[in-house]
Parts: sequence; C-alpha cells; structure tokens
Amino acid sequence: MNTVSRLVTFVLVLCFSSCLLSGAMTPKQIDKEVKNLVKKMTLEEKVGQMTQLTLETIQKKDSGPEFTIDPEKLRNLVVKNNVGSILNCGGQANYTKTWHTIITQIQDVATKETRLKIPVIYGVDSIHGANYIREATLFPQAIAMAATGDPDLVHKAGEITAMETRAAGIPWNFNPVLGVGRQPMWSRMWETFGEDTFIVATMGAAYIKGLQDNDISGDNRVVGCMKHYLGYSMPRSGRDRTPAWIPDREMREIFLPPFKAAVDAGVGTVMVNSSEINGSPVHASHYYLTEILRDELGFKGFVVTDWDDINNLYTREMVAPDQRTAVKMAVMAGIDMSMVPYDLSFYNHLIDLVKKGEVPKSRIDKAVSDILRVKFQLGLFDNAYPPADKAGQIGSDANWSVSLDAARKAMTLLKNEKAILPLSKKAKVLVTGPTANLLSVLNGGWTYTWQGDQEKLYPQEKMTILEAITAKVGADNVTYVKGVDFDKRQDYDKAIQAAADCDIVLACIGEPTYCETPGNIYDLTMTQPQLDLVAALAQTGKPVILILTEGRPRVISAIEPLAQGILATYLPGPEGGRAIADVLFGDYNPGGKLPFSYPKYPGGFEWYDFKKSADGNGGQVRFQWPFGHGLSYTSFKYANLKLAAERIQLKALKSLKVSVDVTNTGKLAGDEIVQLYVSDVVASITPPNKRLKGFQRIHLKPGETKTVTFELNPDAFTFIDHKSQPAIEKGQFILRAGDQKKAFWLD
Ligand code: BGC
Repeated sequence: MNTVSRLVTFVLVLCFSSCLLSGAMTPKQIDKEVKNLVKKMTLEEKVGQMTQLTLETIQKKDSGPEFTIDPEKLRNLVVKNNVGSILNCGGQANYTKTWHTIITQIQDVATKETRLKIPVIYGVDSIHGANYIREATLFPQAIAMAATGDPDLVHKAGEITAMETRAAGIPWNFNPVLGVGRQPMWSRMWETFGEDTFIVATMGAAYIKGLQDNDISGDNRVVGCMKHYLGYSMPRSGRDRTPAWIPDREMREIFLPPFKAAVDAGVGTVMVNSSEINGSPVHASHYYLTEILRDELGFKGFVVTDWDDINNLYTREMVAPDQRTAVKMAVMAGIDMSMVPYDLSFYNHLIDLVKKGEVPKSRIDKAVSDILRVKFQLGLFDNAYPPADKAGQIGSDANWSVSLDAARKAMTLLKNEKAILPLSKKAKVLVTGPTANLLSVLNGGWTYTWQGDQEKLYPQEKMTILEAITAKVGADNVTYVKGVDFDKRQDYDKAIQAAADCDIVLACIGEPTYCETPGNIYDLTMTQPQLDLVAALAQTGKPVILILTEGRPRVISAIEPLAQGILATYLPGPEGGRAIADVLFGDYNPGGKLPFSYPKYPGGFEWYDFKKSADGNGGQVRFQWPFGHGLSYTSFKYANLKLAAERIQLKALKSLKVSVDVTNTGKLAGDEIVQLYVSDVVASITPPNKRLKGFQRIHLKPGETKTVTFELNPDAFTFIDHKSQPAIEKGQFILRAGDQKKAFWLD
C-alpha cells in the first residue's frame, strides 16, 4: 500500500469508528422514534413496558449454583405478556460471564421474538460499586463516602460503578440514595450521605454525573435512579418503611433539595419511598409524584415503584380496598413502572382499567413514552447486548486503588487522648471484638447478597482488620481473642487475660451486616456484651482504642471515657481493613469528618442545625461528637476569613465570594476538610443555629498555607417560609470557618 492509500484507509477507519462512537441520537430524533413506536403499540404492549419483574420469575427450577434461565418462562413473560423490564440478581452476585449469558438470553428473546423488538431494560442495585458482579470493585458505603468530603472521589466511584455494571450488560443502577439521613436508628442510615442537605445534594449530583456523564448510550455508562423519593429517610419510629411526619416547609428545606440537584444533574429515573409522609403513601400521591416531581422540579425521566409497593397500598398502607384500586391510584398519581415483582397482577389490572375507561390512554402513552425514551437514550435499540469482554478492566488494580483511597479518606479520628495514636509498629497489641476478623462487617448490606452476610462470597485476598494489622506489624506483635459476639459473650475471660500481656488493646466493635427491615432496632445503644467487654478491658489498666465499624452511630457514652483513642470507620468496604491499619500505625494521617451528629443518648435526637431553644434548658445540645468533627495527626490554623463585601443590597445579591487561609502548623502532612457555615441571626421562621454551605478537602504539607475560596449563591441565605416559599430576609448573617467568623448584612 502506498502512502496515499494508507492515508485514505486511515481516514476511512477514523470516520467509521467516530460514526460508531457518535451513534448517540439527538433528543429530537429520540422523541420522533418514541412517538412512532408508541403509535404502533397495542395496549398490552404498552402496559408490558410498564411492568418490571424479578429475575427469579424466569429461573429454571432446580438449576445449579449458576443462575439458569428457563426459556419457556422467559418467553411467556417477555413475548406473550410483553414484560419490558427485569431486575435483581437471582439471590447472589453473579460472575460477569453468567451475567452475559443471562442478559444475552433475555435480549435475544426481546429483540428478536417480540413483535416490535423492544429491548428489555435490566436494573440492579449497584450501591457501593457493582456489588452484584463477583469480580467488581467495591467502595465504602455512602455514609463513609460522605465522610471523605471529596465529591471528585464520589464522581470517580460513580464512573467505575457505571463501567463495571454496564460491562456485565446491565444499563440501569438503582442508586444513589438521596434521603437526608436524619434518623440515626434507621437501618438504611449508611446508604445515605448523612444528615446534611448540602452534602447529600453535592455528593448525589457528583455520583450521578459519574454514572451518566452527558451520554448514557456509551458502553461505560448507566442510567441512575435517585431514590427513595421522598421522605423515606425520616421514619418517625426509626424503623424501616414506617410513617414519616414532615411538615411541607421542612420537606422543602431539608429533604427536597438533593432530588432537585439530581434532576438538574440529569438523572434519568427515580424510585419512590415505600412509606408515607403525613398520612399520604408516596406511591399514591399525585402531589409528590406529579405536582412536585414533574411540575416543580421538572423531572423528565420515568418513575419506578419500590419492591411490591403498589400491593402495599392495599395490604399495608390501607388507602386502597383492593389490588385493582391500588394499581389505578398509583398510575394516576404518577407511577410509570411497577416493580411488581413476582406476577402479572399489575399488568392484568392495568389493561382492564384502561379498557373500562378508568385510566385514560393518554396516561399510559405518557408513561410508556418516558420509559422508551430512556431505552433509546441508553442505546438499547442499537445494541441491547453486553459489550465486548472487559475482563482486565473490571476490578482492576487501578479501580481498587480508588476504593482504598476512599476508605483511607473516610477514616474519622474522633478521640486521641495524649496523642496515643498513631501507635508504634513495635507495640504488642491485643485485637479483640466481633468486627475484628470479618470482611462482611466492613461492607454491610448490598454486598454479594442483599444482606451482605455471606462471608464465603467475599474475596479472600482482601483483609479483615486483624489480617491487615498482622500484615503490617507482624504476627509476633498481635494477639487475637474475639471476646464477644454482637449479642453474647464468647471467650470473654480469655480476652481480658490476654490484655495483661499486651501494651495496647484494639477493641473492634460495631454492628453485624444488615439491610432494610432486617436491620431494625429498638435501642441505638451499642449491644451490652460489647460494652461489657470494653469496660472490663479498660479495668486492666491497658490503654484501649475503639475501632467503630457500624452503619449508624450506636451510642457508646458508657465506654467513651474509658477509651484513649476512638476511630470511626463507618462501613469502609473491602479495603477498610488496610485503611484502618494504615491509620492506627501512622501510615495514613486521618482527615475524615463526621457526616452526622453522633448521639450521646439513645433518644431525643438532634442535628447540628438545631434551633437555639432545642436543648430545652437553654444550653447547647449535647452530642457525643458534633457533625463535622474529625481529628488529625497534625494541626491546622485558620486565619483571614474574608468576604468580598460586608453588606449587599438584598435585591442585588447574586453571589458572595468568601475566602479563608488554612495553615498546617504541625509536623506531618495532612488533609483538612474546610467547612463553611452560615447562620441567619434573626428570621421570621426560627432559624437553625448554622447550616453548612460549602466544604473543600485540601492537602497541606507541614508549614504550608492554602487560601480556600467559596462562592456562595443566594441559596446560602435562603430558607422556606411559613407559606412554603423560598425566602431571603434582610438582616445580619454570621459566616464561620474553623475558629474564624465574620458578619455579613443584607440590606
Ligand atoms: C429497596 C430498594 C431496591 C429494591 C430493588 C427494595 O427492597 O428498598 O432500594 O432498589 O429493593 O432491589
């Protein structure tokens, strides 16, 4: 080939591949395709698109350890009954190879054997990484990601999760959780980004952009699903799927903004809160699902129910007398797709409701159009199959290093009396407690199984806390006695005796794995056997370090004074063991900050943005540790908090630039999460004492100073007034960062 023909071939190849790459259709083209397709569809085909079933409904009876599809069941549901969506993993995480077989079989039937060849949209919960794919990279759970104060890291985790999920052929992720975690008893607290609206909104939007980018048709992207809209994270009783009581004003101020931020970030789907707000089950609420979500927030994607929740309207919530009425209520409120998940009841009832004129055809057309639009956006009509083998990329070393980075950054040092930490690598340590030698407890629910409790499924090359400590300081320096399980004593006396021969006790306490309702508790206090063990260990006179591995802040006020050092690790994921050992022995300087207020008492919970009168005795609300708390092995000094203006005319307020200098005054390099708080001094609705309005994680070498700048927009000064409207009132505001504060006036 001569040079010219080589050049021509090169240009042709380039053109061909870029044509393939730019296969994404424009929104206009997609709308046209959707319109044309909907015109051709029968009522049954349309309602089938609104029906989502669980993978178990097409499982072959008595199939072996590998999930196997029964082709007849598959055809019956997808071809005969037009089912358009399938979810879940069939009991436990599958290897990518198995996923490829499952997805290929499903899409073969959907795109070759159905009349209109509409692909199925498959969805899973990739909650902390692609946790239903055996080879995937898993990250710390959301509560730990919030503690990192690093939205770029959350974005990166979103990108990796998307790539690894789509690599299995799955284009839809039921994540992120955007509930604001204000109920510390709740068994899903760890699925949230914590108690602060601003952090949840910031992290949620970063994650969605990581999952979706601007084009979800790519084979490394998935469509996200913000959940659980709305108010699910605030069950009054503290137990899962129980009623919330949230005044409209507070709902708009605290709970709605993260969903608004997600809509603005372009999220494609939403899943609904299983429970009720103020007596209205959200699945039956036109107000929440249509008036607020569609009309106010401008959401354009589609709405899926949570598991079995249309049935719950007549079996649990008692707002419908029967199943048929429940289906009508939900669809008319704004539900587009029902996660049924086991049968065709929704499908049959809805067809009948439309035929009898009880649900208008226009409502069905709108729902189907919104679902099909997402299928087009995902590129499923061009290629519904798993991408070519990405074996080396799923769970790559590079991806796992992001997980380790996140686990380290999440570590939050709560107490460090007389700088007991970091420990010398020569110290003789006793490692004890129920969380010391399990991988499952570092991960929590949504890990290989729903409950995450199948220890045998965890990758054996990852290290428990005990294994990581032993690897770091050598077996000769480590004694391990479990001492207690979560709910009972085990080799308790042996643990106390072992403490006598050691220099330091590392008590690993916390929670077993759980998810959703099985994680319900009636008392937030740490279990008694664990409290007893720590108290007895402290009696030996040996210094005690507590390593807390827990999905929610279990109350430890009885033993807190007995410990010299306390490290919050949350649910740090499979690299948590390494990260913990790194912090304990000084190979990583901790910089995480608590994303919730750690309660001191098992009742009367408050949040960091409490009102002045909240304590009732005129004093400060008493926390074990306040929101935003976290120590370092170095020290930081704040200076020169500066505002671009000290007074601004309210009408002219567009933004306010704020800066502060932070210096590392210690001897070690370290990270500091700089937090900016705003207080409205006097307002027509009793103002919170402060609200977080900006945060940035910075790294400082010893002696180094950085100037951190924030741009506050009017939202930073806005609250929701007594008419449920956003308001900014004239007057004084106080801005705080570290120990610095400055007054600011709106005139
Ligand atoms: C959970 C959802 C999840 C769904 C599908 C439900 O039980 O509440 O968060 O997405 O199951 O697995």
